[in-house]
Amino acid sequence: MSPPTVYKPFSYKFFSLLIIMEILHPVSSSTSYLDAPKKSVDSESATLLKWKVSLQNQTQYLLRTWRVETTPCQWVGIHCDTGGRVSYLNLSHSGIRGTLEDLNVSLLPNLRSLDLFNNSIYGTIPSNIGNLSKLSYLDLSENHLSGTIPPELGLLRNAKTFYLDHNNISGSIPQEICFLKHVIDLSLSSNILTGTIPTCIGNMSNLSSLFLYQNQISGTIPSSITNLTKLSWLNLYVNQLSGPIPREIGMLSSLQILRLYTNKLSGTIPSTINNCTKLANLHLGDNQLSGRIPSELGSLKFLSDLLLFMNNFSGSVPKEFDNLTHLTNLSLSVNHLTEVILGEHLGDFMSSIFTPPSQFAPSTSTSSISAVHDIFLKDVLDQRLLSPTRNVAEEVVGVALLALACINPTPQLRPTIQQVSVQLSKEKAAFRNLLPLITIGQLLNHEFSSAQ
Ligand SMILES: *[C@@H]1O[C@H](CO)[C@@H](O)[C@H](O)[C@H]1NC(C)=O
Ligand SMILES: *[C@@H]1O[C@H](CO)[C@@H](O)[C@H](O)[C@H]1NC(C)=O
Ligand SMILES: *[C@@H]1O[C@H](CO)[C@@H](O)[C@H](O)[C@H]1NC(C)=O
Ligand SMILES: *[C@@H]1O[C@H](CO)[C@@H](O)[C@H](O)[C@H]1NC(C)=O
Ligand SMILES: *[C@@H]1O[C@H](CO)[C@@H](O)[C@H](O)[C@H]1NC(C)=O
Ligand SMILES: *[C@@H]1O[C@H](CO)[C@@H](O)[C@H](O)[C@H]1NC(C)=O
Ligand SMILES: *[C@@H]1O[C@H](CO)[C@@H](O)[C@H](O)[C@H]1NC(C)=O
Ligand SMILES: *[C@@H]1O[C@H](CO)[C@@H](O)[C@H](O)[C@H]1NC(C)=O
Ligand SMILES: *[C@@H]1O[C@H](CO)[C@@H](O)[C@H](O)[C@H]1NC(C)=O
Ligand SMILES: *[C@@H]1O[C@H](CO)[C@@H](O)[C@H](O)[C@H]1NC(C)=O
Ligand SMILES: *[C@@H]1O[C@H](CO)[C@@H](O)[C@H](O)[C@H]1NC(C)=O
Ligand SMILES: *[C@@H]1O[C@H](CO)[C@@H](O)[C@H](O)[C@H]1NC(C)=O
Repeated sequence: MSPPTVYKPFSYKFFSLLIIMEILHPVSSSTSYLDAPKKSVDSESATLLKWKVSLQNQTQYLLRTWRVETTPCQWVGIHCDTGGRVSYLNLSHSGIRGTLEDLNVSLLPNLRSLDLFNNSIYGTIPSNIGNLSKLSYLDLSENHLSGTIPPELGLLRNAKTFYLDHNNISGSIPQEICFLKHVIDLSLSSNILTGTIPTCIGNMSNLSSLFLYQNQISGTIPSSITNLTKLSWLNLYVNQLSGPIPREIGMLSSLQILRLYTNKLSGTIPSTINNCTKLANLHLGDNQLSGRIPSELGSLKFLSDLLLFMNNFSGSVPKEFDNLTHLTNLSLSVNHLTEVILGEHLGDFMSSIFTPPSQFAPSTSTSSISAVHDIFLKDVLDQRLLSPTRNVAEEVVGVALLALACINPTPQLRPTIQQVSVQLSKEKAAFRNLLPLITIGQLLNHEFSSAQ
């Protein structure tokens, strides 16, 4: 900084005298205009050195460039603004071990970026971090911080990045977090946070990623997310969230990744999800979701991962899924999905076709048996696959015939190994082009020819 014009009339001698006075009595000259910037730099230097000596010995060695003889602008991990004030502190991956207790950030008012990602910092988050009115980047993730999130952090009005993930932070998410209206990336994941997602989250309308996964957050997903139209990543997995997936999810038209697995979500997948046209990854596994899988999912043409396992979905896989050409990872296991028809489970279906009429309730006995026997084989096949034709159809009919015969509960009615072998090897012309017409009953009544 050039000295203020007011000093121009002063002689060089007087100027030197001032400097000497400053050296001898640093505190006495606190009213001088001249040394105001230098004083700030000194106080920033003193603040950082005070923190350094509070850290564990080995860490102090890592910060050996932090010396009183030089200005902080020359120290490792630090950048200054054009005024020579500390504006950037980045000690990520540095193995820093200690607390933030002795880092009085109030004395680093020009800090715009504070990145302490991946160290061994423990203790609590000092509330005076909220004093950093210029801070736009805060990353304290991958440390051992504990205690709660100070509500004062809501004062960081200019924050765009706010990462406190992978620590041991407890308590609930303070409402004040919603004051961070400019935040684009917010992560509080992998902590031990409890309480609910604040409804006011809808005020953080510039959010692009919201990571709250691996906590103990309960309550519902607030419908105020309707405002988060720029959200492209929403990761709330491994929490205790309950209630439905809000219909408002359809407003998140930028959404690419939606991971809500391992919660207690119930209800159906809202059909509004077809509005999330950019969705590539939908992971809803391990919840209590039910109802049919909406055919609207078939219109999400970028969908590559669709994981719905361990829920209570029923019905069949929508035909519209044929159009999901990017799908590489599909898991629907442990649902009550019926690849089989009639909303029944495969096991129920199998037992019903072999159960003698007497074991059914009298009123429905014969009619339900014959109903099952009237089912067409084509309707029992996996509806996700194209319907087999010609030779493949013949093979399918032959295999179905054998499979049904071999699981017959009456051993005498099962084919012998020899009959199986004949059936597998013989010309199946009898079934050519018949697949669409063959019923379960016909297969069950098939007489196997004797050996030879
Ligand atoms: C750390 O430094 C203090 C004082 O400088 C010393 O007493 C102590 O032995 C050192 N500890 C280790 C582990 O080096
Ligand atoms: C901090 O430094 C690391 C490299 O050591 C870099 O990857 C990271 O982007 C920096 N953080 C910021 C906020 O610039
Ligand atoms: C954390 O930093 C250490 C070095 O201190 C490095 O070996 C490790 O890979 C880093 N971990 C992550 C997740 O970046
Ligand atoms: C930090 O610095 C501010 C401003 O000088 C001062 O008011 C406050 O008491 C200091 N806090 C601590 C814990 O030293
Ligand atoms: C810094 O923050 C603390 C706690 O949030 C507050 O009490 C204090 O007045 C602030 N100091 C300055 C200098 O802004
Ligand atoms: C996290 O905090 C809990 C108590 O809140 C404590 O029991 C646990 O040891 C802490 N874990 C780590 C890794 O610091
Ligand atoms: C949101 O982002 C846009 C574009 O980056 C910006 O113009 C706008 O001011 C931001 N709004 C808020 C509330 O931060
Ligand atoms: C959210 O925004 C609304 C309207 O802008 C305002 O009334 C409300 O106080 C805000 N809530 C929070 C927590 O910021
Ligand atoms: C949506 O955002 C606007 C403007 O920021 C705010 O007034 C309104 O309260 C928000 N709505 C919800 C549901 O959060
Ligand atoms: C779908 O998104 C558009 C904006 O992209 C919005 O106007 C419309 O209300 C959304 N529909 C639903 C059902 O969410
Ligand atoms: C799953 O759905 C079935 C009916 O489809 C119902 O009887 C059952 O109670 C549901 N189970 C759970 C855990 O919701
Ligand atoms: C697949 O997409 C095409 C073109 O968008 C459409 O005409 C067709 O009906 C879709 N098929 C299914 C089964 O949804």
